[in-house]
Amino acid sequence: MLPRSHEMRVYGGIKLYAGTSFPDLAQKIADHLGEELCGRDIVLFPNDNLFVKLHGSVRGQDVYVIQTTSAPVQRNLMELLIMLQTLRLDSAARITAVIPYLCYGRSDKKDQPRIPITSRLVADMIEVAGADRYMTLDPHAGQVQGFFSIPGDVLTASHLITDYVNQNIRPDLTDPVVVTVDLGYAKKGRNIASDIDVPIAFIEKRRAANDASAEALTIIGSVKDRDVILVDDEIDTGGSAAQAVHLVKEGGARRVYVVFVHPVFSANAAERLAALPVTKFITTDTVPLPPEKRALLGDRLTVISVAPLLGEVIRRAHEGRSVGEMFNE
Ligand code: R5P
Repeated sequence: MLPRSHEMRVYGGIKLYAGTSFPDLAQKIADHLGEELCGRDIVLFPNDNLFVKLHGSVRGQDVYVIQTTSAPVQRNLMELLIMLQTLRLDSAARITAVIPYLCYGRSDKKDQPRIPITSRLVADMIEVAGADRYMTLDPHAGQVQGFFSIPGDVLTASHLITDYVNQNIRPDLTDPVVVTVDLGYAKKGRNIASDIDVPIAFIEKRRAANDASAEALTIIGSVKDRDVILVDDEIDTGGSAAQAVHLVKEGGARRVYVVFVHPVFSANAAERLAALPVTKFITTDTVPLPPEKRALLGDRLTVISVAPLLGEVIRRAHEGRSVGEMFNE
């Protein structure tokens, strides 16, 4: 095993690298920092093996690799791992994996026999590949932080979303209520409700099978004659959101807004969402959204960029300054 580069405790300049998963976001982060993205080759050989080569040396530098791990998940994850190892073998002083959307977050516990905890495996792989630190946004569950033994900045984009809601939507709402799409999001939902200064209600959801299907069962709290802000960490197939929207509408909700951090939008999620009686969908750019999926939601979709947030946290990490200060912590 090679020595951990953070043991050198000498960090040179900042170097930003991007994988191929989301070049636009990486460029926005670089622009925020006033830095260039460093050159590298990423080649997929005919035998489906990936090859990475850096254009310049990173010896002694403070390196950040920006790679979101949405679909194609296996490709994007492997690319990240190979980039981390390349940087480590080139003697970077410190390497931070910047992962706006961390894959396999929902495989975070052994809640039935004979299943893996893949989220833990992903954390181990990132560490073994060479990361000294990691940075991510709104992982599916808090315990993901405990799967890493390297330090990390586990951030939330919920401040960006609540600021947007407070400035653009909140003034027009009638008797608003925040409703979490499931009980797993109750704690974060409560923080969002408190930031918007509205009451909270919850949906009890169950997944009976190991597939994408979910069943929204009951609403705990009142939505009758109220504008509803449905909140969740991600929309994957859109099944949970669709069920939740129908449930609150049946419960007498007026307008419905759907707010979520990660627009995973697998399969026909965008079509499914487009058909819902929802006034607005508010999300972020932790995951790239192809133009055809955006077009389906048209003006009803607002995407808030996380680039300034990630850029600022990278700057502070590089300068050894507090990140908590940004959130008055
Ligand atoms: C699951 O527990 C999460 O909080 C989301 O509700 C889930 O990932 C959404 O998945 P889908 O859109 O496929 O229902």
